[in-house]
Amino acid sequence: MIPESFIQELLNRVDVVDVIDKSVPLKKAGANYSACCPFHNEKSPSFTVSPTKQFYHCFGCGAHGTAIGFLMEYQGLSFVEAINELARMVGMIVPQETRDPDKPAAKVVVGLQESLQQAAQYYKAELKKSPRAIEYLKGRGLSGQVAAKFQVGYAPAGWQNLQNIFPNYENEALNVAGLVVENEQGRRYDRFRDRIMFPIHDQKGQVIGFGGRVINPEDTPKYYNSPETPLFQKGHELYGLFLARRAIRDAGMALVVEGYMDVVALAQYGIEYAVAALGTATTPFHITKLMRQADEIVFCFDGDKAGLTAAWRAAMNALPALTDGLKLSFLFLPKEHDPDSYIREFGKEKFEAEIKTAMPLSQYILKHLSEDNPLQSQEDRVRFLNEAEPIMQQINAPRSAMYLRKKVAELAQLSLEEMHSLLKLPNLNKAPLQARPKLTRTTNSLHKRFSLMLLMQPSLASADDLLWLVGKSDEELLLRHTIEICLLHPHSKPVVIMRELEGKVDAKMLREFERELSVLNETLDFALELAGARQQLQDAYAQKNESLLLAQISEKPLSALTENERTLLKSLGNKPSQNRG
Ligand code: UTP
Ligand code: MN
Repeated sequence: MIPESFIQELLNRVDVVDVIDKSVPLKKAGANYSACCPFHNEKSPSFTVSPTKQFYHCFGCGAHGTAIGFLMEYQGLSFVEAINELARMVGMIVPQETRDPDKPAAKVVVGLQESLQQAAQYYKAELKKSPRAIEYLKGRGLSGQVAAKFQVGYAPAGWQNLQNIFPNYENEALNVAGLVVENEQGRRYDRFRDRIMFPIHDQKGQVIGFGGRVINPEDTPKYYNSPETPLFQKGHELYGLFLARRAIRDAGMALVVEGYMDVVALAQYGIEYAVAALGTATTPFHITKLMRQADEIVFCFDGDKAGLTAAWRAAMNALPALTDGLKLSFLFLPKEHDPDSYIREFGKEKFEAEIKTAMPLSQYILKHLSEDNPLQSQEDRVRFLNEAEPIMQQINAPRSAMYLRKKVAELAQLSLEEMHSLLKLPNLNKAPLQARPKLTRTTNSLHKRFSLMLLMQPSLASADDLLWLVGKSDEELLLRHTIEICLLHPHSKPVVIMRELEGKVDAKMLREFERELSVLNETLDFALELAGARQQLQDAYAQKNESLLLAQISEKPLSALTENERTLLKSLGNKPSQNRG
């Protein structure tokens, strides 16, 4: 078996133009190269090879593929032979078991993934050998079982211990994976030394990074994390999510805490649906990720001042990701506690009872805004409105937004209408009344267009786009996966991203998509095209939301409409009675 990561690295390194040119002399034609197609008889060239996309394509016979595909088709090689041939061309070693039956299988380190995995195993084995590290963990109340579950390990003291498992300590993968650091003289040493190691897994359960905690209280920093790498972006990953997935589904809820030790301690005491942001603020990306697993997210930060600040930042970062189906709440522990110490002192039942009393986001926002504001004078209320405005501006979930606005208006002693006339708030209800809208064919092609631009320039991908991109149509999934892949591989060629999409999205659509890629005009300004597609899509989604809200209102009997809903309908010039049917 050849690891997928190796194939990707290979496709990123070879140039399909070189590969094909060796057998079929190519001529430059604009941004591409062309030739008479080697796969069918023709007089004028319709076979093109794109250096940017790293695909070949024939407009005459439809032949289409990558450098690997070309060698297989043209030279009749098997898949493995084609890989070997390409690897030889760019000087890479294909990881495989040695052919000599007398020798034990020698593993060759190639990719980031493999090196991180091996390091995790190494740290785990080292923990068993270190009475001091074991003593520390025992002293903190960790059971052997939970330590094993989280694959907790120990990076021994010393500068180049990893040399024991990586004979080629100079391998670039170790550097890129963040396992070693290089000093100014170019000398390498292990990043993690004399630390308790917490491996961080992605959603597939693969190790993508580490957090390392000191044992000596004098050492700093207390926690040291892997740097950002192609596999690991702190703002996107949540510690413990892979292990917690099932429990989150079962509980219908995810608990977000601050620390590694909190996640581990909670799991030990039977609360297995906890995850932690990795020493960064909770991002909208985190929220969106959790929203896909549960309808309820409870934040539980430490009771100290830093915890309170983190909670408010989490609340503010969650605003753009809110939907009406999502419940967010905040649990504030007593000042001297974090979830780890709390559950050890009071146990699971008490903790879960506390979770039930967590404060809903809307209440938290209002409480926070009026905490040091007595709302007595006109000036107080103006300040309150000023502070509430940017918050309300970011909430697009129509119902939640409407209820919060009502509350804010009440506290500011204004009518909703007065407040709306004063503040610039997103219009939750401007679309005409219509039947439940679907995103149309044109938006489907916009999804593809957006994805195409990302394929051409993956570094344009932005996690923010995952926030408005809801829905599960083939095209929506295509775009969602493309964004996620591009975020992980911002410098990959289209061919590599295409490969990652294989199996994740509908196969027939992917073929179609590949065809569109082949005929894409490469002189486009991808960033500009992308911005255009984004704007059109966002508008389409916003309109869909509004129409849905109105459709819901219009299904209610007239007598059940609230004052607000009536105003809303009136403002559109729609007489509700006409829509009663
Ligand atoms: P805490 O200091 O609250 O850590 O930091 P903790 O999890 O309670 O750790 P213990 O109980 O002292 O072992 C919370 C989180 O912030 C990040 C880590 O992710 C940590 O788990 N952090 C903290 C860092 O990244 N670096 C630091 O130096 C400190
Ligand atoms: Mn702690």
